[in-house]
Amino acid sequence: MPDAPRIIQLIIAHPHLAASRINAALLRGAATVAGVEVHDLYHHAPDGWFDVRAEQARLLRADAVVLQFPLHWYSVTPLLKAWMDEVLLAGWAYGRDGTALRGKGLLVATTCGGDPDDYGRHAGQFTLTELLRPLEATARYCGMHYLGHVAYGANENVNDHLAGWASDYANRLSQIVQAPWPPAADSR
Ligand SMILES: Cc1cc2nc3c(=O)[nH]c(=O)nc-3n(C[C@H](O)[C@H](O)[C@H](O)COP(=O)(O)O)c2cc1C
Repeated sequence: MPDAPRIIQLIIAHPHLAASRINAALLRGAATVAGVEVHDLYHHAPDGWFDVRAEQARLLRADAVVLQFPLHWYSVTPLLKAWMDEVLLAGWAYGRDGTALRGKGLLVATTCGGDPDDYGRHAGQFTLTELLRPLEATARYCGMHYLGHVAYGANENVNDHLAGWASDYANRLSQIVQAPWPPAADSR
């Protein structure tokens, strides 16, 4: 019997999605991939009051989770941080009996004010891999399989890139829907 189709729970956390160019384009790409469910935090809980049970139920039915956000001060947007604090609870996501997320994939999708390639030693900056370590560490702590990150942005002519980025993102999400990843490592 074939495996059930994989479900990706895509958590988008952009404070002004209506004004977004890049994240909005990425969501248009994501919408073309079967199995991707989009959950807009700033739409559902702009004041930060999450229905924790409902948020956890969304994650439970997902095979993989995508955290998508514009990079704000080298980090996640505030509501995404609040969501992590409220939803990834002890005894559920980690700690004694906290195995709800174990084995699920986690991909980070972020956007930048400039070219992501400007992050790195050559530019006197930390790399994005380094800046995103807290999310990688969170995935590990919860027994998830960290699938790395994708990052989009440009120093100029952003509009010229949007369709290509949307397509690239859709391809990455399609890979996740289709291709299995190794079982979670117990690497706390
Ligand atoms: C408060 C704030 C902080 C930001 N911090 C960063 C940053 O640390 N690094 C960066 O590359 N861009 C930063 N930006 C730029 C946004 O990441 C960028 O405008 C966004 O990713 C573009 O995507 P969008 O078109 O979906 O809004 C910041 C923007 C704001 C409003």
